[in-house]
Amino acid sequence: MKKKSVYIENYGCQMNISDSDIINSILLNNGFILSENLNQANIILLNACSIREKAELTIKKRLEQLKFLKKKKKIWIGIIGCFSKQIKNIFLQHKIVDFFVNPNSYREIHNFINYSIIGKQYDHVENKNETYADISFVKTKQRNNKITTFLSITRGCNNMCTFCIVPFTRGRERSSDPYSIIMECKRLYKNGYKEITLLGQNVDSYLWIDHNNLISNYKNTVDFSILLNLLAQEIPFMRIRFSTSNPHDMSDEVLKVISKYKNICKHIHLPVQSGSNKILKLMNRKYTREKYLFLVKKIKSIIPECSISHDIMTGFCNENEEDHQDTISLMNEIKYNYGYMFSYSPRPGTYAYRRLKDNVPTKIKKRRLKEIIDLQKNHSFYRMKEHLGKIEEVLIEGESKKNNQYWYGRNSQNLVVVFPKKNLNIGDLAYVKITDTTSATLIGEFCK
Ligand code: SAH
Ligand code: F3S
Repeated sequence: MKKKSVYIENYGCQMNISDSDIINSILLNNGFILSENLNQANIILLNACSIREKAELTIKKRLEQLKFLKKKKKIWIGIIGCFSKQIKNIFLQHKIVDFFVNPNSYREIHNFINYSIIGKQYDHVENKNETYADISFVKTKQRNNKITTFLSITRGCNNMCTFCIVPFTRGRERSSDPYSIIMECKRLYKNGYKEITLLGQNVDSYLWIDHNNLISNYKNTVDFSILLNLLAQEIPFMRIRFSTSNPHDMSDEVLKVISKYKNICKHIHLPVQSGSNKILKLMNRKYTREKYLFLVKKIKSIIPECSISHDIMTGFCNENEEDHQDTISLMNEIKYNYGYMFSYSPRPGTYAYRRLKDNVPTKIKKRRLKEIIDLQKNHSFYRMKEHLGKIEEVLIEGESKKNNQYWYGRNSQNLVVVFPKKNLNIGDLAYVKITDTTSATLIGEFCK
């Protein structure tokens, strides 16, 4: 057979996308070629997500479509990414999946494929400490805007929120060593990238212990605030973002470091999930509504220009109208810049799936979801208007999709800005005066 060619389809979060870049690198080093075209590949990898039922249904639908392709020609299909044991069994029912690779086993992905080609199963014990810290990304053209990129600095999660499948699909939390993070960021900067987003399910709980005492200036422990401080100095011309911050782990030191450096973007993604203490407790989120509100106040006092976004879920077990109103009043109090909203779906294997009743009818979940989405739209518009008349630094990421006479980029607050093209290039920083806005996009004029 000619060189085996692999096509990866990505589903799910930024971490999955960034994992695909690691897999690309491992495959290239092991004699595979990467394909940008599904029809030219003989190995198809679906980088799956199972965080919500909807994501799982998308993969199932895709498997049904691939059945036809598999009838027409000899291909091998692998599922990688986030799936728990239970979800693996559901996918197996489609009978076209040849192999599964867990996120802790990507170093061996070529073996999974090669064994599958000869009709065997590759047995491998997953490495629960894996960080892939030594692996440099390889991006396919498809996914490469060459300006912004992601880097996972922690993997897994120890929090055990009762609704969440991540601790079951990605395992316990571990952090990459700070040297490899700094080296990779420098390499990415050299290769033309201008913005890096540090990723972790719980990025603020980043913690690396230096058993060999290599970092002399610091104690032998590097936490997230120290890492941010180091990075801000080591890559001064690169913008730094991070996601996701669990409210429980956000420290004052981190806030101070964000406020200190211009190259650390002024945006915090701070999922709240619910405004009701009763629901937060049932979710095993380790903060109360009051603590969360206090944290938001603190963020605004230390970093006044900081934007804040959220994740909120409606219809979790036992959520009644009063709880829903608590969420609405919390949103009204904060007026987030933007947010991601979902209705709860039970995930096999989680505590909520096993022990709590999914007792909010779908119709009510959807109605509550629509209410918070509408409310968020008003709040987004309110927050966007605060930018009118200001001059903001925008990193140009490309042409606006709606009008190719406009540049598209984001400001420090992670808000989209479009403005009429000037003699500038993708990757340039532009100073733009904001003259108009919608609830999702700031519109401006180039200043300098
Ligand atoms: N680590 C992040 C969450 C990652 S999952 C945190 O600390 O919050 C991304 C979002 O998906 C979650 O914030 C939650 O709002 C949503 N989500 C997770 N599990 C879900 C489920 N079972 N049903 C619906 N939404 C869910
Ligand atoms: Fe999931 Fe909670 Fe961790 S939402 S990823 S268990 S912080």
